[in-house]
Amino acid sequence: MRIKETRLSDLDCAAFVKEQVAWISRTVGDGLAVNALSGGVDSAVTTMLGHRALGSRLKTYFIDNALMREGEPRRVVSLFRKLGVPVELVDARAEFLDALAGITDPEEKREAITQTFYRKVFGSMVRKSGAKFLLQGTNFTDVEETVAKVKRQHNVLAQLGIDTEKEFGYTVIEPIISLRKPAVRKVAKYLGLPKEIYDRPPFPGPALAARIIGEATAERLDLVRKATAIVEDALKGTKAFQCMAILHEDRVTGVRNGRREFGLQIEVRCWDSSDAVTAKPKRVPWNTLETLAKRLTVSVPGVVSVTYNIAAKPPSTMEAV
Ligand code: XMP
Repeated sequence: MRIKETRLSDLDCAAFVKEQVAWISRTVGDGLAVNALSGGVDSAVTTMLGHRALGSRLKTYFIDNALMREGEPRRVVSLFRKLGVPVELVDARAEFLDALAGITDPEEKREAITQTFYRKVFGSMVRKSGAKFLLQGTNFTDVEETVAKVKRQHNVLAQLGIDTEKEFGYTVIEPIISLRKPAVRKVAKYLGLPKEIYDRPPFPGPALAARIIGEATAERLDLVRKATAIVEDALKGTKAFQCMAILHEDRVTGVRNGRREFGLQIEVRCWDSSDAVTAKPKRVPWNTLETLAKRLTVSVPGVVSVTYNIAAKPPSTMEAV
């Protein structure tokens, strides 16, 4: 891998921001660029750097891909509007659901999301807008894990030998590619982003599709979305690095109101980690887990089994897909 890491201890935020803003300006010249904001700290920092460099020549979109958490699209768009950054909400739910239909293999799912995002949704937006550049928040760990073939992160392209200009018709600019997450958070804070952004737990690019074993249909996405909201609420007091609900494909026999129910299983994961490279399950109090299991079985239709993951990364990964 040719990219050199900028370590947190060596990071001078003022110099970094100045350099990246100048580089984005030089690269785009007097042209136009687009970017997608997901609300995560990586895309938030990239958006802010891009707006400093290009002002209204950067058009920022929030792509609703049907894979987001409850209320996420509107929450992110309104937060950035308050920060003075106009964001256009694009409804691409049908495109992503069509692309994911029938796919159960994890890497094929990731590939379908990548292709839908870069070729279909962004390809047509870039063509319509006349932009030649796409700004995106790929970070150092994304590249490292993809190159090491641990998981194909949806946003890593050039390092896999993909020529975006030839394949999709635009050049990708990645201003935070030398930073790991703690360094990105430091830049976010420096840029004046609110705590809910710079301190926000990570959320994966393939979003809730990374938390469904088997096919990600609209119906199964709704189930994992409900479960995610409950898990995040119930475990917010744990100060975990990240917590999540995973919907399994296998069913198990349960009993509800005296009747057999061949129902669904939710696995809860709650991680302690500093860099997401290694992670350990948090020792969540038993009472908290018990209450959480009750809420999940009552509120998420069809769930009869709730498990808690106790394996560390490695050999686990944090997301299930
Ligand atoms: P994994 O599952 O690779 O996740 O141990 C490490 C951290 O990266 C976040 N993250 C992603 N994970 N695909 C992933 O599997 C992605 O595209 C992605 N983007 C971010 C993940 O949530 C965890 O914090």
